[in-house]
Amino acid sequence: MIVCHCYGITDHDLRKASTGPAGLNSSPKSAHAGKGCGGCKALIQKVLASSLKRDNPGTPGDATQPERS
Ligand code: FES
Repeated sequence: MIVCHCYGITDHDLRKASTGPAGLNSSPKSAHAGKGCGGCKALIQKVLASSLKRDNPGTPGDATQPERS
């Protein structure tokens, strides 16, 4: 799905770039995400947060892990 319409950046682009050593800046295309109108910033954060949870199971908010009390 397209996340940033200003630059045509997809959720796949963001997830792929976020795993690089320089994060979003590791991809010239993804480095522009959110730097146009800014209307996509909340969605960018959601995509990156879900990617982080997927890559780090057991972190707070991970629905695959039971809640700790
Ligand atoms: S939609 Fe991403 S900066 Fe405008």
